[in-house]
Amino acid sequence: MTRIIMTGCSGKMGMSILNAASGRDDLQIVAGVDLVPPQNNALIYARSFSELTCEADVIVDFSHPSVLDSLLAYALDKKMPVVICTTGYSEEQKHQIFSAAKEIPVFYSGNMSLGINLIIELAKKAATVFGSDFDIEIVEQHHNQKLDAPSGTALMIADAIAEVKTDAEYIYDRHATRKKRDKKEIGIHSIRGGNIVGEHEVIFAGQDEVLTISHSARSKTVFAVGALNAAVYLKGRVPGLYNMSDLLRDAE
Ligand SMILES: NC(=O)c1ccc[n+]([C@@H]2O[C@H](COP(=O)([O-])OP(=O)(O)OC[C@H]3O[C@@H](n4cnc5c(N)ncnc54)[C@H](O)[C@@H]3O)[C@@H](O)[C@H]2O)c1
Repeated sequence: MTRIIMTGCSGKMGMSILNAASGRDDLQIVAGVDLVPPQNNALIYARSFSELTCEADVIVDFSHPSVLDSLLAYALDKKMPVVICTTGYSEEQKHQIFSAAKEIPVFYSGNMSLGINLIIELAKKAATVFGSDFDIEIVEQHHNQKLDAPSGTALMIADAIAEVKTDAEYIYDRHATRKKRDKKEIGIHSIRGGNIVGEHEVIFAGQDEVLTISHSARSKTVFAVGALNAAVYLKGRVPGLYNMSDLLRDAE
């Protein structure tokens, strides 16, 4: 049984985590940290880590970058593994996370969906096999409230492909220049509309052959389930920085 402290327990992802955890017998959310008290009264609740007293095995964090200092101070003091899912950290904060991972197990990923992380692995494999014979285009779709474009996940996919396609050049918009497509390009395109949770498609277009790998997130539950699996995976690990690639590799 993995006992979990949830940071951001009253937020959208916090509620999704509580729902996803209620159907599992391999883990339990024992406490929540949030500025706002949770609706679930069964949790030990604290407004901050300095007020928290409880026994637990792993912390799962879906909150805000401003929580990082107190989160890492608590985890380092208790030698407790931490799954960090919050996004929007500064470069300095990312270094804090990497530095903490030298002393405790830290699972850090901007996208906790198992499917998206599998797509990243598959896209990397396809880029290796196809080499420069195939043109690569990434198309992502999200709801009309999303501020950033392209999505961080589309960039994660492009970055993974660029690890094998080392001369890759990202092209976000083609309307401004009038020229034929270069082999080095990875085209990245964004669509915004309605309440689309998140669609990602990676197209490998060759001569007379097209391979498309796609992923569709239908609700936030996919991120919650990924984070809970990461928490179970992290319990008992040696200090280090882990991500979904490690979880997928060890699950093979
Ligand atoms: N890695 C992933 O797969 C993934 C998926 C979805 C969301 N996220 C990220 O997770 C984070 C939370 O997302 P959300 O949609 O649940 O947001 P949200 O705004 O609904 O919830 C955030 C919660 O954190 C709490 N909080 C904020 N500052 C705090 C503080 N100083 N101390 C204690 N609690 C504090 C808020 O009260 C709120 O309840 C965001 O950074 C989001 O981008 C990551």
